[in-house]
Amino acid sequence: MRRISRISVIAALAALVLFILHVANPASRAQNASFHNAPPSAKTTKNPYEGQQPDAAKSVYQSRCAACHGPNGEGVAPQGTQLVGGVGTLASENPIRTVGSYWPYATSVWDYIHRAMPQNQPGSLSADETYAVTAFLLNRNKIIEANEVMDKESLPKVRMPNRDGFIPDARPDVGKNGPPAEGSKNQKPPAR
Ligand code: HEC
Repeated sequence: MRRISRISVIAALAALVLFILHVANPASRAQNASFHNAPPSAKTTKNPYEGQQPDAAKSVYQSRCAACHGPNGEGVAPQGTQLVGGVGTLASENPIRTVGSYWPYATSVWDYIHRAMPQNQPGSLSADETYAVTAFLLNRNKIIEANEVMDKESLPKVRMPNRDGFIPDARPDVGKNGPPAEGSKNQKPPAR
């Protein structure tokens, strides 16, 4: 009797070890497809936020930006510049500098708007409002689709039309790492 119970305890422990090994081994989980599957309800439940940003974008833009930049970013003289169009005009006689034609990175547009706009209330937009109006401007510039949502994952992936339009400045650096100007007070004595 005693012996049997000892054997069954050993068997139970062995089964436990095997079970733990099985659970801990990703390969054995991968073979069981249903292990990874989301519950069936996940396939029918819609993203509750789907499609909301474009609407938010329109209303934030119209209430906070349109008075100066026009309802579609066409600009309102003299209070606000044009923000849409102008691609390919920068090297022409009438360069039109806009979000679409000039800015090399969508994240810089976000940062600029977040810090500096609306010009009469800089810094007043929340991060989400800034994503929304940035998405609005990218869409009006035909860079993203109207239903594309911009957030910290998607915005850095946007490729701006003028991404390769900037060239390194070949002139020597004049910052504090550059050589001091002739006769400058900061000029170090020549090394001996
Ligand atoms: C009170 C008027 C006013 C309002 C409101 C306003 N802006 Fe501006 N915005 C300006 C002016 C003026 C400039 C040009 C500033 C400069 O060049 O120094 C500008 C510049 C910009 C630029 C840079 C354009 C470029 O390519 O140089 C962007 C982008 C921009 N605004 C977006 C927005 C957004 C988005 C909003 C709404 C959240 C907004 N602005 C609200 C007046 C306004």
